Amino acid sequence: MKMFKLFGVLFFCGLLTPSQEVLPGLSCAVSPGAMRNVLSGAILQNGLLQQHLQSLVLPNIMDEGGLLNAPISITGLHLVKAQFPELSVMLLPGIGVQMTIAAKLELRGNGLLGLLPEIIDIIADMSITANIKCTNYESGTVQVVIEDCLCIFGAIKVKLLSGLLSLSINDLVHNQLAGTLPGLLCSVINVVVNLVNIQLLGTLNAVIPVGTAGTIQYQLASLPFTSGLFLGLDLDGAVQQVGGSIIPHDSSSSALPPLMDKLLVLGLRQSFLNAAVSLIIQKQSQTFICMPEAFSGAKQLREAVMTLVAARCSSCPRTDPLSIEIAFSGNPLFLLEVKKATINLSVMIQLFIQRLDGSVLSLLLLKADLGLSVRFSITGRRLLLAPSLSSIALSLESSDVGISNISSLKPHCRTLLVEKFLPLLNGLLSVGIPLPNVLGIPFINADVQISAGLLAIFV
Ligand SMILES: *[C@@H]1O[C@H](CO)[C@@H](O)[C@H](O)[C@H]1NC(C)=O
Ligand SMILES: *[C@@H]1O[C@H](CO)[C@@H](O)[C@H](O)[C@H]1NC(C)=O
Repeated sequence: MKMFKLFGVLFFCGLLTPSQEVLPGLSCAVSPGAMRNVLSGAILQNGLLQQHLQSLVLPNIMDEGGLLNAPISITGLHLVKAQFPELSVMLLPGIGVQMTIAAKLELRGNGLLGLLPEIIDIIADMSITANIKCTNYESGTVQVVIEDCLCIFGAIKVKLLSGLLSLSINDLVHNQLAGTLPGLLCSVINVVVNLVNIQLLGTLNAVIPVGTAGTIQYQLASLPFTSGLFLGLDLDGAVQQVGGSIIPHDSSSSALPPLMDKLLVLGLRQSFLNAAVSLIIQKQSQTFICMPEAFSGAKQLREAVMTLVAARCSSCPRTDPLSIEIAFSGNPLFLLEVKKATINLSVMIQLFIQRLDGSVLSLLLLKADLGLSVRFSITGRRLLLAPSLSSIALSLESSDVGISNISSLKPHCRTLLVEKFLPLLNGLLSVGIPLPNVLGIPFINADVQISAGLLAIFV
C-alpha cells in the first residue's frame, strides 16, 4: 500500500472552540445527518472506497497441519466484491467525527487442503469505525488523522467448491483475517479520508467571481470543531475589487442561531455583507436629458426647477434642455436587525444645462440619503438582494444660481430615483453574493433568517 502523506485539508475535528478575538465573516454549523450524507456521497456513492479496495493485497493463509490435520494453504486471496450497506456518523466533542461503515466483503482464493486443490470463497461482514480528527491548521488547510480505527467482525462464511468444510478451516480463516484485515482496511480508510478532505477543502477554499466587479476568496479560518450537535466551521471571506485592494471588514460578535432539525446553518456577518455589497455597488453614474419620455415625472421636475431658476436668475437660460446626472456617493451601509435588513446609501443628483457651446451651467447639486429595505432569496449558490425604497432625505449641496429652497422638488426627485436609479441598483445587485461551497451541501429550499448583525441561511 502506498503511503500517503497529505497536507491540505479538512473539515472535521478536534478540540478547539474558536477563541480568536476577531470573528471571521462567516460561520457555519453542519449537522451529523449532513455529515453522514457528505461522507457517504464522497466515500461510498462515488465508488472511492470500492476503487481503493481493489488494490488490497491479502496475505496467504497457511497452516502447517499437525497430527490430526492436513496442511492448509490459501493463496491468491483477492477481493471479488465489496458492499457497504451503511455509513453512520457521530460527532464527538473534543475528538472529531466518528464514522462507521458497515461492509460485506467477498473474497476468493486458491486453497490447497492436504493435496486437494479447491476454490475458496469467503464472505466477511464487518463494521469499520474510525475517529477522524483535524490538526495543524495553516492558512486554510488542516491535516487529517485517523484515530482509533477499529474493525468489528460479524459473520465470516467460508465456502469450498467441494462442499467439504472442516471446522479447522473456518477457525483458521477467521483468526487470520481478524489479524490482518483491520490494518489493511484502516490504511485504505486513511487514504480515502485524506482524499475526501482534499476534495472538500478544495471546494471550500475557493476564489469566486462576483460578476465583473471582483472576487470573494473563501477560506477556512481556523480548525473545525465538534460539539455533540454539530460540526462548526469558521470561514474568512476576503472581498476584493478587480485589480484592487481587499475591502476590509471586521466582524462584531453574533452567535449562530441553533441548527434545530436542519442540515446546515450558514451565518453571514453584517460587516462581511457590507463589504460584498460595497464591491457590487461600484461607483457608477448615469447621465440623461430630462425629457418627458425619460421618466414619468420628468416634465414636472423640469417645470419646478425652471420656476426656481426664474425666481433667482433672470439672465439664466430657461428653454435649454435640462440634464440630470445621478451618481453613487460614499459607501453603502448595511444594517441587520431582528427580521430586518436595510441599506443606507447616498446618491448625488446634479441638475445642469449644457449649452450649445459645450459649457455647463450647474443649477443644483442635491444629495439624497436613501433608506432601502432589502429582501433576500437564494438561487443556486448565490444570495440575491432585492432592495425597495423605504425613505429618502433630500438635501441641497450647492447651487450655482443661488437656489436655496428645494422643497418643491422632493416628490419629483422621488419619482426620478424610483424610476431611474432603483433599476440601475437592482441591475447591479442581480449578480448576487456568491456563497461558499460548504462540503458540497446544496442550498435547496433555503430559509433566510435575520437577527442583529447576522444573516443566517438554513438548509
Ligand atoms: C439609515 O438611514 C435611516 C433613515 O435615513 C436613519 O434613521 C438611520 O440612522 C441610518 N442608519 C445608520 C446606521 O446610519
Ligand atoms: C420653501 O418653499 C415652500 C413652497 O415651495 C414653502 O412652503 C416653504 O415655506 C419654503 N421654506 C422656506 C424655509 O422658505
